Amino acid sequence: MHTPLVARCLRGLEAVVASEVLGSGLGAVTDLRHREVHFRSHRFTPPLRTADDVFLLAAQCPDIGTTRQRLHELTELVHLADTDHLLSLRHSSLRHSAATSARGITGIDVSASFLGRRTFTRYDAEDVVGQALARRLGVPYHSRRTGTAPPPGSCGWRLTLDGTRATLMLRLDDRPLHRRAYKQRTIPGTLHPPLAAAMATLADIRPGHAVLDPCCGAGTLLIEAALAQPDARFHGFDLSADAVTAARANAGELPVAIRRSDAGRLPLPDDSVDRVLCNPPWGTQAHARGLLATAPSRWWTELRRVLAPEGTAVLLLPDREDLTTAIRHRFTPVRVQRLRLSGAQPFLVHLALAGPQRSRGCKQRVVA
Ligand SMILES: C[S@@+](CC[C@H](N)C(=O)[O-])C[C@H]1O[C@@H](n2cnc3c(N)ncnc32)[C@H](O)[C@@H]1O
Repeated sequence: MHTPLVARCLRGLEAVVASEVLGSGLGAVTDLRHREVHFRSHRFTPPLRTADDVFLLAAQCPDIGTTRQRLHELTELVHLADTDHLLSLRHSSLRHSAATSARGITGIDVSASFLGRRTFTRYDAEDVVGQALARRLGVPYHSRRTGTAPPPGSCGWRLTLDGTRATLMLRLDDRPLHRRAYKQRTIPGTLHPPLAAAMATLADIRPGHAVLDPCCGAGTLLIEAALAQPDARFHGFDLSADAVTAARANAGELPVAIRRSDAGRLPLPDDSVDRVLCNPPWGTQAHARGLLATAPSRWWTELRRVLAPEGTAVLLLPDREDLTTAIRHRFTPVRVQRLRLSGAQPFLVHLALAGPQRSRGCKQRVVA
């Protein structure tokens, strides 16, 4: 039987998630919406790495509009949902994954989000749906209004209002997919793992490739890349001793070598790297230090020096000016995608080397 599922993701990664669904043979994509990929699958726990989370589609109805007077209409979603069937599907899925809450649910919690201005808050919408679900299922509702985490055994529901449709979903697993077991240590500005997985996918890493992250932080990019392609060689550098310790601990037994070094003077020969993955320290949470603090352009000259003629780089750059800087350093964008990430709108950029030695067959692609 093919179950309707919804993968939630960062704004801008919908196409990447849809490609992962199709590429891993999980099933057929039925719709692409704001931060959502709808698909039908015969597998209960799709191991999607580029999605934030996967839900069972419970019910849909027209969006209720912008005013709080119509909030009560959201209870219609609960009436439409076949909750017994959904909970038994979730129960089977959790049994497959040996999760602790497979024994049954002790309560429910709801997380809501909507597009556009409304005269109600997300908590108002969550409470209407949560209380209706609690009445129907005969278990307590744990509101997120107070900021306290729901107790173990609670099952998570998701409500989205996108201006056209109201959608109710039930989380398949008992913890969000974007929380990775390997990520025991973190640093300020560390990357969201599904975004790191998406960047690794776009980099198209092949067996034998040398892959570099010159400012690797807690190692998220190289770890996601090594999980996807363990037959490549992964080299991470960071100037911060804390970051190096975190990355080594997170990488564990994976083939990822982490060393302390300044990205402005990398201990690597010319033309020795096939793929670069990086979100450099230009943002507000992680600051450039060492050689990069005084001469940020060294980052680009080093990148160009170590990258092999057919090499490419997938980078997360905070500003449009960073792209101009890349082009000034004779890189050619082959794909540019704007994302939404924690209130910022960085660019996901895939670069090849410009000039005579640039990769043949790279067509430019700009996605708004
Ligand atoms: C945005 S963070 C990278 C986060 C990383 N992708 C992760 O998932 O944890 C930028 C990193 O650049 C490092 N950094 C700053 N200046 C550096 C330099 N000159 N050389 C190497 N690393 C540097 C910081 O220590 C920080 O870990």
